[in-house]
Amino acid sequence: MSAALARIPTIVLGGTGYVAGELLRLIAGHPQLELAGILSDSQPGEPVAKAFAHLAPVYPQTKFSSQAEIEQLVALHPQSAIFSAAPHGASAALIDRLLTVAEAAGTTPRVVDISADFRYSTDAAYAAVYKHAHGAPARLPQFSCAVPEHLAQATTPHIAHPGCFATAILLASVPLLKLGLVSPQLFVTGITGSTGSGRKPTDGTHHPQRHSDLYAYNALAHRHTPEVTACALAASGVAADFHFVPHSGPFARGIHVTVQAQLHTPQAAADLVAAFQQFYAHSPFVHVGAQAPRIKDVAGSAYARLSVASNGRSVAVMSVIDNLNKGAAGGALQWMNRLLDLPETSGLTAPAAGWT
Ligand SMILES: NC(=O)c1ccc[n+]([C@@H]2O[C@H](COP(=O)([O-])OP(=O)(O)OC[C@H]3O[C@@H](n4cnc5c(N)ncnc54)[C@H](OP(=O)(O)O)[C@@H]3O)[C@@H](O)[C@H]2O)c1
Repeated sequence: MSAALARIPTIVLGGTGYVAGELLRLIAGHPQLELAGILSDSQPGEPVAKAFAHLAPVYPQTKFSSQAEIEQLVALHPQSAIFSAAPHGASAALIDRLLTVAEAAGTTPRVVDISADFRYSTDAAYAAVYKHAHGAPARLPQFSCAVPEHLAQATTPHIAHPGCFATAILLASVPLLKLGLVSPQLFVTGITGSTGSGRKPTDGTHHPQRHSDLYAYNALAHRHTPEVTACALAASGVAADFHFVPHSGPFARGIHVTVQAQLHTPQAAADLVAAFQQFYAHSPFVHVGAQAPRIKDVAGSAYARLSVASNGRSVAVMSVIDNLNKGAAGGALQWMNRLLDLPETSGLTAPAAGWT
């Protein structure tokens, strides 16, 4: 079979959003995925390059599609890759509709949902946090939620990406819990860039508000905390209590998380770094070192960087990722590579720019 024939038609939902743009950027550099359609509710028929000027060189002619056109693609292609970067509350019903179309046509798309809609195993748990009924409760058993580093093989056909803060927190916390190093009270400080809030301008993302400033929001009450707790339990077997204070940072891309906990027995920082390095020895996107990681080490890339400090009694794990890439589009693509039996790193190995 020629390389051209081997390319897998790829569909993106959530068209003009920031995560959808990052998905398009990554798909353009992927050796086997090929963009077949990108759904926009608000701009069907408009050029993709109008919403994403930086993508004009790789998508000069591509236009946003309507839902009817996307449904035709799902029915037409025996196998396809579907990424949803639609908002929570909308994503589940959209995915349900496309999977229903696929079932009727006898096609078998694989889905990675980047929204929160399939992160819980029950509709009651979802409704308790998001305060509305789940859009497709019968589909929940078809999705698993985990960062790829913590689940060797998915047993479901589709995946729910755990999200950006969750990725950074889980990469730092799960080794502490699974290796039995700490008491299960984890204190987490996270700082996110402004793209974490999406494309629509708000007070919190407006440049004069955000630039040169730093402030906490939803302290100890962030809605993603229960998702982190559930994912950490599934990945480590330990029911931990997460005390999370998120902050808005004065940069566009990236997340910096610090997780602190009490050590069961005194441990030197060098030993903890070695334990983390061993834990992630087979995880191509996770790098653990002695130096405190910086957001510029990972911005724009699919890599995570971690470091561990200790005073003998307590431990601090620093974890940085790019929210749009490893924390959304890149993490989703890593999962899709696995679902399609492609090399896990396909299309994802470009390093960070270093200076953004
Ligand atoms: N930003 C991040 O760092 C990040 C990280 C992890 C996860 N996520 C999740 O990824 C998803 C996308 O985030 P984002 O930051 O890209 O958001 P965004 O910039 O606000 O974009 C979301 C896009 O979804 C589309 N949309 C809006 N309402 C819709 C509806 N009712 N039905 C279908 N589509 C609708 C819109 O595009 P059209 O009008 O073109 O359809 C919109 O531009 C969200 O679920 C978010 O929670 C985001």
